[in-house]
Amino acid sequence: MQQAQDIVQQGIIDIENCADLQQLEVVKARYLGKTGSLNALLKTLGQMSPEERKTIGAAINEEKNRFQAALNLKKTALDNAKLEAQLAAEALDVTLPGRGQNTGGLHPVTLTLQRIVELFHGMGFEVADGPEIESDFYNFQALNIPVNHPARAMQDTFYVENGDVLRTHTSPIQIRYMLEKKNPPIRIIAPGRVYRVDSDATHSPMFHQAEGLWVEEGVTFADLKAVFTDFIRRFFERDDLQVRFRPSFFPFTEPSAEIDILGEKGWLEVGGCGMVHPNVLQNVHIDAEKYTGFAFGIGLDRFAMLRYGVNDLRLFFDNDLNFLRQFN
Ligand code: DAH
Repeated sequence: MQQAQDIVQQGIIDIENCADLQQLEVVKARYLGKTGSLNALLKTLGQMSPEERKTIGAAINEEKNRFQAALNLKKTALDNAKLEAQLAAEALDVTLPGRGQNTGGLHPVTLTLQRIVELFHGMGFEVADGPEIESDFYNFQALNIPVNHPARAMQDTFYVENGDVLRTHTSPIQIRYMLEKKNPPIRIIAPGRVYRVDSDATHSPMFHQAEGLWVEEGVTFADLKAVFTDFIRRFFERDDLQVRFRPSFFPFTEPSAEIDILGEKGWLEVGGCGMVHPNVLQNVHIDAEKYTGFAFGIGLDRFAMLRYGVNDLRLFFDNDLNFLRQFN
């Protein structure tokens, strides 16, 4: 059937000329669609005799199949071309140098804090904490520092609202813990930020302390000396480190002492300590006849300076990465 052959001949040329799948769809519709030319040809079969219909119909169908085959082939080719173009466009250049990744690190004071907590944890001390904004009661009164007591002048205080303060030391955590826990044995290490109106090479308005407290029947100053000496020798990794307990005064301990260690240039103060004052125990409803305890407070920043050989406290708070990177 010459007509069908001619149509498909042209159809195959049209298929070949398609540059993409969209054009191919248009060509397909033009030949095989409802009003397509091959379809129109098939419709003419209706007016033919059964004999003609058989032979001519078969011939048209054969041409139609030829067209369909060419169409399929082209579609596959265009599909592949499209995929290849996509792969080429999205190709990863695995030879490019990597961008690298910045890993963070812990601050030297945090490292020091963790080390201290870890050492006390090993001696059975639980970690405790409290709020940085404290009431006068916890920060002063319950610690045996009544209103107008000269000891308040020792600690230049930042006052907030309603007479509340930025805690001047971690000692109020002692009070909070004892009021909450009520019954000895009590053994805590309590690190945190504290605040005082003070600023120079060795003082920052915000600094860090850790408070220690052990209350139990029969605890003595000898226990305080043993625990603290053991701790500080482990901290500095020096078995022969000399530790000195120098008589001093704190309202919340009696007797009280400053703790010094012997460095290359002489004695260095690292904290205060003492036996918990009976008034403090009474304030937290612990029987001072039955129980005794010791407490101490140490400056974490001072410990960090000594451990890492840093001579200006302010370096810790400038957040200069060149400085901080050295500790990680
Ligand atoms: N709270 C004191 C201060 O900040 C340090 C201190 C001294 C804490 C003696 C204590 C202690 O627990 O017993 O200066």
